[in-house]
Amino acid sequence: MVAQVIDGKAFAAKVRAQVADQVGKLKEENGITPGLAVVLVGEDPASQVYVRSKGKQTVEVGMNSYEHKLDAETTEEDLLALIAKLNNDPDVHGILVQLPLPKHLNEDLVINSIDPAKDVDGFHISNVGLLGTGQKSMVPCTPLGCLMMLRDYHGSLSGMDAVVIGRSNIVGKPMAQLLLGDSCTVTIAHSRTKDLPDVVRRADIVVAAVGRPEMVPGDWIKEGATVIDVGINRIERDGKNKLVGDVDYASAAERAGAITPVPGGVGPMTIACLLANTLTACCRANGLTEPEGLTA
Ligand code: GUN
Repeated sequence: MVAQVIDGKAFAAKVRAQVADQVGKLKEENGITPGLAVVLVGEDPASQVYVRSKGKQTVEVGMNSYEHKLDAETTEEDLLALIAKLNNDPDVHGILVQLPLPKHLNEDLVINSIDPAKDVDGFHISNVGLLGTGQKSMVPCTPLGCLMMLRDYHGSLSGMDAVVIGRSNIVGKPMAQLLLGDSCTVTIAHSRTKDLPDVVRRADIVVAAVGRPEMVPGDWIKEGATVIDVGINRIERDGKNKLVGDVDYASAAERAGAITPVPGGVGPMTIACLLANTLTACCRANGLTEPEGLTA
């Protein structure tokens, strides 16, 4: 079997177009412009790239982008004061504090100081609890993007066997909750899982989110399974820098029914879903109907 490629870049463009369309309507019919505030502390180069990209795409869909760049020595008190100000600002519907934070700042404390209704990352403990109990929440962007692609490809996921490899709070755990919410039978696998190849071989859906280059070989993949590769790993091969996923794409594509490439798979969906979450937060804040197909 040669897998169908799930084109995340094209899908993300479609999501952004949907968001832009809804933003246009919000402005025209309600005089409201959704606003996203992104807070970056320090000068981590990868984070700077992400934040720039987020700001650019926010403006492209017609939303207001508020960037707050703080120096690496910012105190917790100052950061919390900024978040409190953003929590109380009616023009700000979404708040994202770029992670990782410098070591002297308590990430949990900072994230949990964000108003849960504005927590477009879905990292606040209230949103984690709401998702875990099947209630309306803000859903973390990367798993939401994976879910959208899976629903688009399969329609219903009900009854499917899914394995999520990786148990991070940002991807693995919320991904498992979302798949459970769509009535999959879910296994969360991790570094201590016994006989991981066999666990993966039973799965109709494989979500790989471990951050280890090409650790899932094609012969672990069941014929016809759907493979969602969340990994973005930089490696050097043949003297060149290359981006690869957590799945060995070439061998997996020979067995899978459908697979996301790296780059161009899950990656572009994350920011698209951040914009979707900002729109959702804005609609909820204003008591308006949420856009269809952009939430879990
Ligand atoms: N750093 C890497 N990924 C993310 C993300 O999804 N959200 C935030 N806030 N920081 C990140």
